[in-house]
Amino acid sequence: MADIWCLGSINIDMFYDVPHIPAPGETLAATGHSIGLGGKGANQSAAAAKAGAKTFHIGAIGENSSWVVDRLDSYGVETTWIAKSEEPTGQALINVALDGENAIVLLAGANASLDLDHVKAAISRARSGDILLMQNETTLQAETAELAKEKGVRVFYSAAPFDDAAVRSVLPFIDTLFVNEIEAAQLEKSLNQSLKSLEVPHIVITLGADGARWIDTSRDLQIDVSGLRVKAVDTTGAGDTFAGYFAAGCARGDTPKAAMELATKAAALKVTKKGTADAIPFLEEVVRFTP
Ligand code: RIB
Repeated sequence: MADIWCLGSINIDMFYDVPHIPAPGETLAATGHSIGLGGKGANQSAAAAKAGAKTFHIGAIGENSSWVVDRLDSYGVETTWIAKSEEPTGQALINVALDGENAIVLLAGANASLDLDHVKAAISRARSGDILLMQNETTLQAETAELAKEKGVRVFYSAAPFDDAAVRSVLPFIDTLFVNEIEAAQLEKSLNQSLKSLEVPHIVITLGADGARWIDTSRDLQIDVSGLRVKAVDTTGAGDTFAGYFAAGCARGDTPKAAMELATKAAALKVTKKGTADAIPFLEEVVRFTP
């Protein structure tokens, strides 16, 4: 089984339950509050590890928040490549509305202070066939992707949060690109070309409650899996859950269809629970889940 190396953000997620997402200028009383482990990177590492893949997280945190590393450890993530930074640990202020939708404000903090030598040292341990999982909440994605590709490591990248320049800089190195429908439209607009015409071997489009689509661009092949009907209470981190579970399936050698089916189930189960990394289900729970 291949290993997963996840270069990604680690955030302290501060959740506020609100009746609706506040409008500009509106002051709103929260009906609930909680704090948990999050960050797209930490969520994807937690998902991959909970899905059974050996997962190394590469990232950084500030002082006085070692609980976030302990939490990742407790989910089975290898945390030796998480550095300490003088910047504070990343933070996310997350409003979750009654229908499960969210709005997020990020403070990058330590996530933007990664050291290239540290990342190089980590990637030097990866083997050909391993998977590098990345998102857009840290620095050094393009440098890391290039190093990984040189070693024969497969690069899986979520274009989230969408950033035109960041996506362009990693495109030449990507094996599998994850986008949701909004990111897909943003990317097509910014590159002025269709997703299928990109020189990226594989593209996964997550479609929320409607499932997911895998595209093999060289063979013009498309595989769709259906979504699952669940009562969503919090959609935050659903895409991360999908990406981590999908990567774990690929690391195990599952077919893209099987990996997508399991990832779709894991993401559906996640949205029935409040929270992010802490709410991502373990494999046993996903296998048992019958919506
Ligand atoms: O994708 C969800 C994540 O986005 C949250 O955990 C939050 O930290 C932000 O990074």
